[in-house]
Amino acid sequence: MHTIKKAITKYPVLDIIKKRWSPRSFSDKAISETDVKTIIEAASWSFSALNEQPWRYVAAFRGTSLFDSFFDLLNAGNKNWNNNTSVLVLSVLSNIYSNDGTVNTYAMHDTGAANMLLTLQANSMGIYTHLMEGFSKEHAQKLLNQGDEIKPVVMIALGYPDVAEKLDEPFKTRELSPRSRKDINEILLEPQLP
Ligand SMILES: Cc1cc2nc3c(=O)[nH]c(=O)nc-3n(C[C@H](O)[C@H](O)[C@H](O)COP(=O)(O)O)c2cc1C
Repeated sequence: MHTIKKAITKYPVLDIIKKRWSPRSFSDKAISETDVKTIIEAASWSFSALNEQPWRYVAAFRGTSLFDSFFDLLNAGNKNWNNNTSVLVLSVLSNIYSNDGTVNTYAMHDTGAANMLLTLQANSMGIYTHLMEGFSKEHAQKLLNQGDEIKPVVMIALGYPDVAEKLDEPFKTRELSPRSRKDINEILLEPQLP
């Protein structure tokens, strides 16, 4: 049985949000191309400033040379637990400039939002995601060979979750440790108006 780390909340948060977490132990079960396309299409239905849709994705399936190239981009810590990942999805920014030529300062914001929709769609299909900033953005950009307009954001591991026992330390302990969050009172500010 894979690890379940359902959030314990004070308020009645949606079940799909409570169940989302970032596992590191994945089974070797493959994810189909149709499922990956479903997951990416879900991301495309996110909101974005001026509907610019700055997100782009590159999906690499285990067993392909692209997957091996993406795996090589990961830092050592992330390589350690990605040995069973089924699909590595590279999330990149495209529209750094808006249609009117000004810098789209919301591109990163909007891509993050799309990545969350991608995750929730995946979770609804029994597939989990683990986002990673620990990879070489410089080499990723060179590998994509699409110019400076494309900015790598995160590498996303996709897979069906598996037992924590498969992991090396310290990842096994992390897999089993409880999730924690700042209290709602810490993030919901009450400014003292003059
Ligand atoms: C932008 C971003 C980058 C991250 N980079 C890494 C990473 O390189 N390696 C890793 O193991 N986890 C990484 N994570 C996962 C976070 O550590 C994780 O989301 C956080 O601890 C909260 O845990 P939860 O997602 O299970 O709620 C990253 C998450 C985000 C959103």
